Amino acid sequence: MGAFIIALALLGPTAVSAKSVFAHFMVCNTANFTETDWRTQIGLTQTAKIDAFALNMAKDEATTKAQLPSAFTAAEALQFKLFFSFDYAGNGDWNKATVTGMVNQRRASAAYFKYNSKPSVSSFGGPASGADWKNIKTAIGCYFIPGWPSLGAKTALEVAGGVADGLFSWDAWPSGSRSMITYPDASYFNFLSSKKYMALVSPWFYTNLPGYEKNWPWRGDSFWVDRWNHLISGEFQPEFFQIISWNDYGESHYIAPLDDSQYAAFTTGRASYNYVINKPHNGWRELLPYFITLWKTRTASIMQESIVSWYRQHPKGACSSGNTTGNTASQLQVEVAPSVTVQDEICFAAPLGSAATVSVTIGGVAVAATWNVVPTGGVGIYSGSAPTGGRTGTVIITLARSGTTIVQITGWPISPTCTNGLNNYNAYVGSMWGVSITARSPTLAVSKMKCARGFGANGFAGLCEWRCAHGYCPEAASFGTKPIGYTLSGLSPAYDGLCAFVCARDYCPSTACSYTKGTTDCVAVFVIGGMHSLEWCLLFKSLFTKKVSNRASVS
Ligand SMILES: *[C@@H]1O[C@H](CO)[C@@H](O)[C@H](O)[C@H]1NC(C)=O
Ligand SMILES: *[C@@H]1O[C@H](CO)[C@@H](O)[C@H](O)[C@H]1NC(C)=O
Repeated sequence: MGAFIIALALLGPTAVSAKSVFAHFMVCNTANFTETDWRTQIGLTQTAKIDAFALNMAKDEATTKAQLPSAFTAAEALQFKLFFSFDYAGNGDWNKATVTGMVNQRRASAAYFKYNSKPSVSSFGGPASGADWKNIKTAIGCYFIPGWPSLGAKTALEVAGGVADGLFSWDAWPSGSRSMITYPDASYFNFLSSKKYMALVSPWFYTNLPGYEKNWPWRGDSFWVDRWNHLISGEFQPEFFQIISWNDYGESHYIAPLDDSQYAAFTTGRASYNYVINKPHNGWRELLPYFITLWKTRTASIMQESIVSWYRQHPKGACSSGNTTGNTASQLQVEVAPSVTVQDEICFAAPLGSAATVSVTIGGVAVAATWNVVPTGGVGIYSGSAPTGGRTGTVIITLARSGTTIVQITGWPISPTCTNGLNNYNAYVGSMWGVSITARSPTLAVSKMKCARGFGANGFAGLCEWRCAHGYCPEAASFGTKPIGYTLSGLSPAYDGLCAFVCARDYCPSTACSYTKGTTDCVAVFVIGGMHSLEWCLLFKSLFTKKVSNRASVS
């Protein structure tokens, strides 16, 4: 017995998961920072239970050199962590000697984030320089987690003989008018095997910077809460999360406070106006401690109830859309009107210790508000929405229990008139804390919960509902006792895990799966598209089919 206990004690440290949450931090925005500013930002990050900043840095930026000493001094003083994320897309590929030198200069700092005792290093883009990382890793022994979204998971893992120790995708936003899904994550889990996955999670996306040739919103709506829920409850747990972003104001996905010392992007990007002014996003940050604790420890507690609400301040049909497109061809997406991707909705989320009702009025008129997600056992983060029906006026969101108001937000008004006559697709986020309550936790740990409701798109929808009814929630592979199923020829390998699981249990829908192994020829589309590969796969397939039939009709 004694020997058994010792063996467990020895196993302990290596068996412990090092789950960590990072926030994507744009160093280029900090030219006006003092060390005090770094301390302020770090303090807010620690309150949100974020473990480290992924310091995004493009090549040859003066701000990087000037600010890193203050950043590290502040992080050391506050026992916070930082690591480098070399952006190869901003100003081109980094020089490998520069990368090695920068990591060597900082790795001894207690503030440099280590994984398995190795300094963590990330990078974005630049797969053509992938072979450099073999030399860099030999020189500095780093733990390397690149994002090579242009390649897709399978090909990215083959770069330079498998130089990546883990990967992240750039699939943090849904395309078109659909909600967020986890199929791209599934394709990473499918191929990564023992390597680690860094899941991206982002609350929003709207950019309108003609100087950088960027001008599109992606659908936002409820996905800040949906994505945390999906990834926290999935069977395959990412080792890391990266929140996009802490302070990227130009893409409207910041969760840091508004800061007019960081708005250079609106000038250099030749924005027709600054679309983040008066659009605080702090409320999104307030949901993080619960989600992050739930993900890391599989349970969490509510000690104070609150409500967070977010919405766009113009009806989607109001004002001019300027030259904004919904989605972007630059990411190989089909462009649509922005009004197709965004919804006229008031979204809200509330950490609650027990059930409560939510109601919404716009301009004094009540609109139907419903919870779309009610946590198991009634404790946790409730979320929902209220369609605005195009109404304008002041927005009031009220949480009540047994007829008594718990907390209320008087949100900023929805207006039919817009700055410069252009619709602003950024979100206003309001929040309000209620009183403290006796701490309450969900009755079941997440790992003990079973699926109650599946979600999915295209051919996945039926699969997901079915697998869910059988208590299967994972995003990727699992095996039963019946013959294994394969993804139908021509479909994305994102289906592999599902088909393997469901066909083995006698549900093998012919729209997606088969008992005969075929070729998942959409792998090629992963190479071209990278993002939202499933849609592209299906789109290419339909185009290809069309071409073939056209040719047939000509001949
Ligand atoms: C720093 O402040 C100046 C003066 O307000 C401003 O012009 C500049 O854009 C700021 N830098 C950044 C990176 O935002
Ligand atoms: C839209 O694009 C046209 C042509 O490039 C340009 O002249 C115009 O100023 C743009 N409008 C806005 C609102 O950016």
